[in-house]
Amino acid sequence: MAVIAVYSVKGGVGKTTLATNLAWFSAQLGGFNTLLWDLDAAGGGAFLLGVDPSGRPKAQGVFTREQTPHEVVIGTRYAKLDVLPADRSLWGLDARLALLGKKRRLARLTEDLGATYSRIVLDCPPVLNRISAQAMRAADVVIVPMPPSPLSTRAFALVAEEVKRLGPGHPPMLPVLSMVDRRRTLHRMALDANPEWPVIPLASALEQCAVRRAPVGDFAPTSLAASDLGRLWQAIERKLAQRERKRG
Ligand SMILES: Nc1ncnc2c1ncn2[C@@H]1O[C@H](COP(=O)(O)OP(=O)(O)O)[C@@H](O)[C@H]1O
Ligand SMILES: [Mg+2]
Repeated sequence: MAVIAVYSVKGGVGKTTLATNLAWFSAQLGGFNTLLWDLDAAGGGAFLLGVDPSGRPKAQGVFTREQTPHEVVIGTRYAKLDVLPADRSLWGLDARLALLGKKRRLARLTEDLGATYSRIVLDCPPVLNRISAQAMRAADVVIVPMPPSPLSTRAFALVAEEVKRLGPGHPPMLPVLSMVDRRRTLHRMALDANPEWPVIPLASALEQCAVRRAPVGDFAPTSLAASDLGRLWQAIERKLAQRERKRG
C-alpha cells in the first residue's frame, strides 16, 4: 500500500484536478484498488468524480474514530476507485486534532485501509497546519503542483521545509509544473530551469473535468493532457518503487 499526497500551501494550483485524475489512472491503468481521500472541506474530489455525498457531515468523525472510514467511503462509477468525501465538518478538524493529540492518526487510518486499498491519494487543503502535518506523516510521496510563478516556488519551499522537518525518513517530494502555457516567457523559463520536473499543461480538457465531473482519461483518453497525466502517474510509481528499494 502506498499513500500519495497532493499538496501545496497555495490554493488554485491544480491539486484537486491532479489528485482525482491520478487516482483514476491508478485504478484504471495500474489496476490498483484506489481510494481518493478528500481532506479539503471545499470537497472538490467527490464532485470531480461525479459523486454526490449526502447525509450529515461525518468526515471529521473518521479522525475521532466515531466513524470508520468504510462507513464514509462511497464507490464511484469507475472500477476499483472509491472516494472518501470531504464535508463542512473538516472546517473544525485542525482544532479537533489539537485536542486529540494524536500526531499519526491519519497515518494509522491509512495503514488500516491498506487491507482494502493498494493506493490512497490524499487531496490536501492549502494549509500549513495539523491537517497538512498529518498528511505529510502518512505520505509515501508528496506531489507538489506549481504553476510557474515565484509565488508557487515560495509555496514549494514551505512544503519542503514542512516535509524535511519529519527527519531523514521523510517522504520524497515530486514538484510538478502545472498549468503550463508554453506561449508565456515566464513559463518557458521555468521549464528550462527545471528540465527534470514533470509538466502538466494548461489545457481546456483539464478544465473540462469540472464541467463533465469526470477524469480526463474517461472522456478524452487520446488527449495530450491524458497522456501527460499518464506519464506523471508512471513517474510517481517509479518514485514509490525507489523508496521501497531504499527501505529494502
Ligand atoms: N492543467 C490545467 N489546465 C487548465 N485548467 C486547470 C488545470 N488544472 C486545474 N485547472 C482549473 O483550475 C482551477 C483550480 O484547480 P484545482 O484543481 O481546484 O486547484 P486546487 O485544488 O489546487 O485549488 C479549476 O477551475 C480547475 O478546473
Ligand atoms: Mg483543491
